[in-house]
Amino acid sequence: MTAQQNYVEPTGNQKAGFQKGDGFVYAKRLPTAWETFQKEEGIPLWTGVGCNDSRDLPRGDWERVGGKGTFVQLLGTNNNTGMFVVEVPARGALKPQKHMYEERYIVLDGRGAVEVWKNNGSAKTSFEYQQWSVFSVPVNANFRVTNTSSAPALLLGVNTAPKVINMYQSKSFVFDNSFDFENRFGGNLEDYWKPGEDFEPQPVRGRAMITTNLIPDAATTYLPLDNNRGPGHRWLAPNMVGNTVLQGWIAEYPSGRYAKAHHHAAGAVLVCMRGKGYSITWPKDKGGVNPWKDGYGDLVRMQEYGPGGMISAAPGPADWFHQHFAYGRDPFRVFNYTGGVPGNESAFGGLNSGDDPGAGGEQIQTSLTDIDKGGRAIPYYMEDPHIREYFTEKLTAEGATFTMPEEVYTREGSNIKVMSD
Ligand SMILES: [Fe+2]
Repeated sequence: MTAQQNYVEPTGNQKAGFQKGDGFVYAKRLPTAWETFQKEEGIPLWTGVGCNDSRDLPRGDWERVGGKGTFVQLLGTNNNTGMFVVEVPARGALKPQKHMYEERYIVLDGRGAVEVWKNNGSAKTSFEYQQWSVFSVPVNANFRVTNTSSAPALLLGVNTAPKVINMYQSKSFVFDNSFDFENRFGGNLEDYWKPGEDFEPQPVRGRAMITTNLIPDAATTYLPLDNNRGPGHRWLAPNMVGNTVLQGWIAEYPSGRYAKAHHHAAGAVLVCMRGKGYSITWPKDKGGVNPWKDGYGDLVRMQEYGPGGMISAAPGPADWFHQHFAYGRDPFRVFNYTGGVPGNESAFGGLNSGDDPGAGGEQIQTSLTDIDKGGRAIPYYMEDPHIREYFTEKLTAEGATFTMPEEVYTREGSNIKVMSD
């Protein structure tokens, strides 16, 4: 602690604040409560645009949780969503936990069970997990993750801890709070963990949604045809445990195909669960629509990733274009960790397109609309030629085939209304 200084009021035309005599007024970037919390937890912190496989990241002893872990804080996600890999010891368990933020898990390896109960010790529920199970923990419910196998289990968690810790700045409020959210984890809980089966249209976008608190195997579960990010693209948004902030979706690209480049604010993280892919991302304002052709190819960041790997789709700080490629012989399936809120998807939906139409209004989803129609997606016929050339090379090296239909590379064919595999 430095001694408190007395505030000195400016005189004459002098401005108040931090100055260095160069005419600017400076601001300090202080560590946030979330960043301080991460340090205090004492486990490693991985930062960057992505990683090839999060299971390979070094993990350290995690006293509060009871296993080993690492934080994963990809570019563009800081102070917004928290992410971590946690290792559950063989034939062991993590400590019981509860917290006032929303949290969702992807099982990267192993099998076991999770017990979930209310604060008064009642309403004991449980379910089993295996590799590529996806589940969410109701906010402030007590839970305990066990490992029934003879090898360590690895789980990838994502949560809204940064928002909640930064807002309340009280560990006892966040981790030792007796409130039960009956509206999220209450009533008859007998079938609470029974996987949902029915698809319904999302209230906001009308794309496929499933209400389920557990997906037993998200790497193989059926995904309906969507086509919004390219021909044959499949997509499903799970609506889990009443989460309101932490949302996401599962998407799949057929082998030999790729997404249209598009731009939006940072925050979306894609985690591969199946196949092989790479993503590219570049700053929209500096790199433009054709970065290589225009001499800005060095601005393009690229991440190759397989199961367990991930990328921050739009690392920011301003909007970045990004694009995902299925270059392996199998379909490329990803779990998106933060975008596409089923109930109120303002971040990547229409609200970036202009004025708020007011409650009950309607907007065009500009991130799904081509730039030649005023949107934020680059139609295939306008994209940089290097994109297709490089993709073809990667496919050849893998013994996979380019399967994009030629008609999508024309102005007329760029927005095909109904496209089947
Ligand atoms: Fe995106």
